[in-house]
Amino acid sequence: MAALASNVQVAVIGAGAMGAGIAQVAAQAGHPVKLYDNRPGAAAQAVTGIDRQLARLVDKGKLLAAERETINARLCPVDTLEALADAGLVIEAIVENLQVKQALFSQLETLCAADCILASNTSSLSITSLAAGLERPQHVVGMHFFNPAPLMALVEVVSGLATDPAVAACIYATAQAWGKQPVHARSTPGFIVNRVARPFYAESLRLLQEGAADCASLDALMRDSGGFRMGAFELTDLIGHDVNYAVTCSVFDAFYGDFRFQPSLVQKELVDAGHLGRKTGQGFYRYAEGVERPQPAELHSSACAEACVVEGNLGVMQPLVERLRQSGIAVTQRAGSGLIQVGDATLALSDGRLASQRAREDGLRNLVLLDLALDYSSATRIAISWSADTSDSARDQAVALLQRAGLKVTGVADLPGLVVLRTVAMLANEAADAVLQGVGSAADIDLAMRAGVNYPCGPLAWAANIGIAHTLRVLDNLQCSYGESRYRPSLLLRRCEAKGGTLHD
Ligand code: NAI
Repeated sequence: MAALASNVQVAVIGAGAMGAGIAQVAAQAGHPVKLYDNRPGAAAQAVTGIDRQLARLVDKGKLLAAERETINARLCPVDTLEALADAGLVIEAIVENLQVKQALFSQLETLCAADCILASNTSSLSITSLAAGLERPQHVVGMHFFNPAPLMALVEVVSGLATDPAVAACIYATAQAWGKQPVHARSTPGFIVNRVARPFYAESLRLLQEGAADCASLDALMRDSGGFRMGAFELTDLIGHDVNYAVTCSVFDAFYGDFRFQPSLVQKELVDAGHLGRKTGQGFYRYAEGVERPQPAELHSSACAEACVVEGNLGVMQPLVERLRQSGIAVTQRAGSGLIQVGDATLALSDGRLASQRAREDGLRNLVLLDLALDYSSATRIAISWSADTSDSARDQAVALLQRAGLKVTGVADLPGLVVLRTVAMLANEAADAVLQGVGSAADIDLAMRAGVNYPCGPLAWAANIGIAHTLRVLDNLQCSYGESRYRPSLLLRRCEAKGGTLHD
C-alpha cells in the first residue's frame, strides 16, 4: 500500500507538545498541514513554536533558510473543526480521554470525506474502543509517535479490531515517507513499547526495595554494563514519576491485575510525596543547585591477579576470556561447565539462583556470581554477588581479576539474577509474550524497543545472544525463588527452547 501523496492535506488536532511535533514532521515531509486546538490561540502559538524549532535547525546547519520558509508556509493554524473538512488524514493529539476522543472522531466523520483516515496518537487508549460506534471504524488507526516527535524515529501503527489492513498499511508507508521507523502493533494495553518496557522500571524498583544496592549503583550498572542510556531511576526522574507510575497502573489494570505489571510501592511513595523527579527538584535524586549526584558503589582490591583457569565455554561471557588475556592475565583453558577459577574463588554467570543456593546445590566453594553485560569486551562495570560462605579473600581475588581486566566492580546483595541479567530476561519475556499474543512481530518488537526507547539491543535478539535456554533458566529460577507468577516464563520461550528454533522464526 502506497503512502499518502505529499500534497494530501493533513490535519492535526491538539496543539500541545505532541500535536505541534507531529505537525512539524508532516510539514517537513511536504504536506500542507492544518492545526486546530480548542484553546483559542493555541494553534497559532504552536505554529510560532514550530518556526522557532526550524530556526534552530537552520542555525545548526541542518536546514536551509529557504526550506524553513517553505515548511512554515505549509502550516496553517485554524479556528474551527469545519476548516479541516478537506483533510485526507486527521491525527488527533488531544487530551487522553476516551469519551472526548470518540466525540471528536464522530464529529469528524460528518465533516470529512468518506475516505479520510482518522488517526489517534493515544498512548494508552484502545483503538478498538475509539472506533466503536463510528460509521466507518475501518478508517480509524493508531499513529503513536514518541516524544519529541520530530526527533524520535518510532511510530507504532496500531490496528483495532475493525481497522482496515489497507489503512494500517497506508499509515505505515506514510510514516516511512516522513522519515520514521514504523512498526505494526495490535491494539492491546500499552501497545508494544509501553508494555515491553515495564520490566525495565519494575526490576530496578524491586531490586532497590529489596536492598540490592542504592539507586546510583543500580543506574550505573544499567548504563555501564547493560549499555542502556540511562538507568531506571534517572530515567523515571526525567519522565516524571506521576507519568511513569500512571502508565504502569494503566497497563496493570488493563491486564486485570497481572502481577507481571504490578506497580511499585517505592514509586507510589514518591508520587504520594510529590517527589515527581526533575520537574519538582526531587525524585530518587535531588536536583537543587549544588547538590552532587551520589557515586555508584565500587569494590576495590589491592591484590594482583596473575592467572586464572577457564573451565569450558562461558557462553555469552566468552569475550571476557580474550579481555582477560589482553590484560596480561595468564588464562589456562580446560574442560568444564562454564566457570572461571581464580585463586580460591569460582566465578560464574548468574543463572537466576541466589549465589548461596547455587553454591550449596552445585557444591561450588567461594562462589562469586557475575551479572550480564551487553558486551563483555567493552563494558566498563560489572555487578557481582557472592555466596554467604564465600571468604573475603576469595571475593577479593575475584575483584582483582575483574579490576585487572579494566572493569569497575559493584557488589550487590545476594538476590536472584543480579541486575542487568534479570532485567533483560524479563524484557525478553515480555517481548516473547507480546509476539505469542500477536501484538507485533519479533522483528518489529525489537525495532520498537531500539527506536522508541533507545535500548542498545532488541530484547529478543538479546535473549538469543544470551541463549534461549539460559534466559529461560534465569526466569524459571527467578520464579522459583520468588514463587510469583510475575516471573513465569513465556510459553514462546519454552517452545523455542524445546524445538531449538529462534524467536524470529
Ligand atoms: P498536551 O496537554 O500538551 O496537549 C493537548 C492539547 O490538546 C492541548 O493544547 C489542549 O488544549 C488540546 N485539546 C484538548 N482537548 C481538545 C479538544 N477536544 N479539541 C481540540 N483540542 C483539544 O498533551 P500531549 O502531551 O501533547 O498529549 C496529547 C496526546 O498524545 C495524548 O493522547 C497523549 O496520551 C498522547 N501522547 C503523549 C506523549 C507525551 O510524551 N506527552 C507521547 C505519546 C503520545
